[in-house]
Amino acid sequence: MRKKLLIVDDDPQGSAQLRRLLESEELSVEVVDNGQDALAALASSDYSILITDLRMPGMGGMDLIREIAARRLTVTVIVTTAFGSIDRVVEAMRLGAYDFLTKPIDPTYLRLVMDRALKKRELQDEVLSLRQRLKENFAFHSIISKNKRMHELFELIRHIAGTKSTVLIEGETGTGKELIAKAIHYAGEGRGNLVAVNCAALPETLLESELFGHEKGSFTSADSRRKGRFELADKGTIFLDEIGDISKAMQAKLLRVLQEKNFERVGGHECIEVDLRVVAATNKSLEREVGLSKFREDLFYRLNVIKIELPPLRERTEDIPLLVTHFLQKYARPNEPPKKVSPEAMDRMLNYSWPGNIRQLENAIERAAVTTVGDTINADNLPHQVVGAPVEEKPKFEIDLDHPLPHYLKIATEQIEKEYILKALEKSRGNVGRCAELCGLSRRSISGKISQYTIDKYPFKAS
Ligand SMILES: Nc1ncnc2c1ncn2[C@@H]1O[C@H](COP(=O)(O)OP(=O)(O)OP(=O)(O)O)[C@@H](O)[C@H]1O
Ligand SMILES: [Mg+2]
Repeated sequence: MRKKLLIVDDDPQGSAQLRRLLESEELSVEVVDNGQDALAALASSDYSILITDLRMPGMGGMDLIREIAARRLTVTVIVTTAFGSIDRVVEAMRLGAYDFLTKPIDPTYLRLVMDRALKKRELQDEVLSLRQRLKENFAFHSIISKNKRMHELFELIRHIAGTKSTVLIEGETGTGKELIAKAIHYAGEGRGNLVAVNCAALPETLLESELFGHEKGSFTSADSRRKGRFELADKGTIFLDEIGDISKAMQAKLLRVLQEKNFERVGGHECIEVDLRVVAATNKSLEREVGLSKFREDLFYRLNVIKIELPPLRERTEDIPLLVTHFLQKYARPNEPPKKVSPEAMDRMLNYSWPGNIRQLENAIERAAVTTVGDTINADNLPHQVVGAPVEEKPKFEIDLDHPLPHYLKIATEQIEKEYILKALEKSRGNVGRCAELCGLSRRSISGKISQYTIDKYPFKAS
């Protein structure tokens, strides 16, 4: 592909000379005469190289380079400068310029600098595209994960995309069941609508008319005929959320639709045929519900054609840093860079069990992003359950080679330290001095650790 070069120079002769020397089959050249116009051009098109003069009326080259760095634009910058202004060149390079040319321009040297810059650009583009691909690999229809089991599920969804097989999604609250249902629908051909029904939110009679529609006059408030969700989802997908919560009577009605692919509206006799995919979700184990005789076995088998079991977040802790970064970007204030997370805060998050799974993590990050004053979220900006989680509740962490060994050694050391202090506090009945003796540490250092680990020493005090 032909690469693009942008020349920024207020001297038309200078830019015409550069254009003559550089324009070729491989390189197209555009010229602007000030920094402001250069920024506009960079915003509207991708340039590989930018050659800029430093002194220009309006926005000069130095400010242009500053802006390019601030906006993280991926263009390789070369500055041109009159002979003898080395200080300014040094400053430009410090700000991010890649190379410089002194005027009058020597054509041989120009070629050399350009070749070098183009090679560097190629390498950088390769890194960028790799990064992009990596990002894409971690996200499937906006479901972010690098967990092996999740990737197997993505593969399964791709595989079944073109079919109409019924899918049952099981997973604890907040694990992303709704996201998976959307992915199943949108990974398909995209014909028809995705229509969702929260089965737990409606009383039985309303649910029936919501699902199957009703004829005019079929009940007191039915003043007109109304299509139900099954009809609206024809040729598409119906998402039956919280399926574990429907009554036995509704279970029987659903079974019939799944078996016969037809139904009647409430108060009607016309048999309505539908051709759609059913996706059902529940945070209960339907198999257990069947065992407890709360869920019909025959309906369970109809739904359980393809089963997707979403692992809880505590079984895919390698996703926590990835999700945290994602949510920090999502909840960054407009025109502000996303906040960072201190290593201690990240450790706490990695060691918490997240019973509310990804939704709970998202809420914690949203709250921390809004309430943290500086640019870094610390442990004390996180909800108290996360930072104060007792050691015994912490799951054993999974080793992920994305973190260096010292990261895990630190977590392990902290866990042992906390456990030891808790035992010593118990034995010393909350007496910090005695606890310090037992630990073989100074009283000051123990006090520091007690507050670091947010240990509440009062339950240990003798009554
Ligand atoms: N892997 C993920 N990547 C990014 N966001 C996620 C991921 N999983 C879940 N979320 C986000 O977490 C929140 C909860 O997800 P979702 O509503 O799909 O969960 P759920 O399993 O349906 O929960 P519930 O059982 O409470 O209905 C949503 O805001 C969703 O966008
Ligand atoms: Mg849900």
